[in-house]
Amino acid sequence: MSINTEYNTNIGIDVEYAAALLRDGETVAIPTETVYGLAANALNEDAVVKIYEVKQRPQFNPLIIHVDSFTSALRWVQNVPEEARLLAEKFWPGALTLLLDKRDLIPDLVTAGNKKVAIRVPDHPLTIKLIKQLDFPLAAPSANPSGYVSPTGAAHVYAGLKGKIPYILDGGECTIGLESTIVGWDEEGRTTIYRLGGIGKEEIEKVIGHEVRIVKSITENPATPGMLKSHYATTTPLHAGGIADLLKIFSDKKCVLINYNQYQPNYPNELQYILTPHNNLHDAAKNLFKIMREADLHNADVILAEYAPSEGLGLAINDRIERAKWEWKKEI
Ligand code: TXA
Ligand code: MG
Repeated sequence: MSINTEYNTNIGIDVEYAAALLRDGETVAIPTETVYGLAANALNEDAVVKIYEVKQRPQFNPLIIHVDSFTSALRWVQNVPEEARLLAEKFWPGALTLLLDKRDLIPDLVTAGNKKVAIRVPDHPLTIKLIKQLDFPLAAPSANPSGYVSPTGAAHVYAGLKGKIPYILDGGECTIGLESTIVGWDEEGRTTIYRLGGIGKEEIEKVIGHEVRIVKSITENPATPGMLKSHYATTTPLHAGGIADLLKIFSDKKCVLINYNQYQPNYPNELQYILTPHNNLHDAAKNLFKIMREADLHNADVILAEYAPSEGLGLAINDRIERAKWEWKKEI
C-alpha cells in the first residue's frame, strides 16, 4: 500500500463491486442519509489506515462504525445501557450514533485508543444492502478531505477524493445533509450529547424521559493558533452573524451571503443564497453543506452566513456554521 497510489475513481450503484473492494481492504465512499462516508473494513487495520491517508487527517480521530441493525451492533459492543437500547429502537436506522463499550474485536485504531466505540445504523437502502453482504462493520468518517465541508452528494465526494479511492457508491443526495447526533454515557452514567446532528436534543429527551447535557468532545474542537481554518470550513473565510451588520464591516470586500430564509435587499442576488425559502429547518439542514460548497466557488473575499433559529435542528445547523467560521486567533 502506498499513499501515492492513483486510482481511476469510478461512480456507480454496483453494490457487489463495492463489497468486493471492501473485502479486499480498499476504501469505498458510501451514501448515508446524513453525509457520504469513506468506508473501510473496521476489523482490518491496514484498511482503516487508508481512511486516514485518504482524508489526510492530521491525527487519528476515532471513527464511527456502521452496522445493519441493533442485533448486529451487539456483536461489536457490550454493557449497553437500557437508554441506549430505547434510543436505538426509536431512531435506528437513522442519524443517531451511540458511544458504547467496545468489544476486543474492534481495533484500538478505530477508536483512537478509547474503550468506547461510536456505532450507528445508517438509513440508506444501498448501504444497508452493502453491509448485509459483509461479515464486518464499516468504519466511515465523512468522505471529505480533512477540514473541508462534508459531502452530501456523490459529486462532492468526487471533487474532494478523485484519484484517491477506487469507487463511489452513488446513492443520490443525502436526505438529512448533517452528520449524526452522537450520544453516550459518561462515568457517572449521565446521558450526554457529544455532537449535535440530524436528531434533535428534544427528540432524544422525549424517548428517555429526562434532560440530557451537551458536551462537545475535544476532537471536535481543535484549538490551534493563527488564522484558524477549522473543521467543516470553506476555503473562503466565513464569518457568521447578522448579515446586514457584517455587510457594513466588509463593505469593501466581495461577499457571498448565506441567508437563512430571505434575500438581503440592495445586494446582488447572484451573490446570495438562502438555506430555506419556507422557514423549514429540515430543508435548511439538507441545503447547508451544499450551499457552503457553492458559495465557496465564487472566488469571493468572504462568505457571510446567518444563523438559523436556535431550536430543534437549528442548534445543529448553527453548530456547523460556528465550526465553519474562520477565526482570527493571536499567534502564541
Ligand atoms: O453522520 C455521520 O455521523 C457521518 C456518517 C458517514 O455516518 N460520519 C461522521 O464521521 O460524521 P466523522 O468521522 O466525520 O465524525 C465522527 C466524530 C469524530 O470526529 C469524533 O469526534 C466522534 O465522532 N467519535 C467517533 N468515535 C468516537 C469514540 N470512540 N470516542 C469519542 N468520539 C468519537
Ligand atoms: Mg467529518
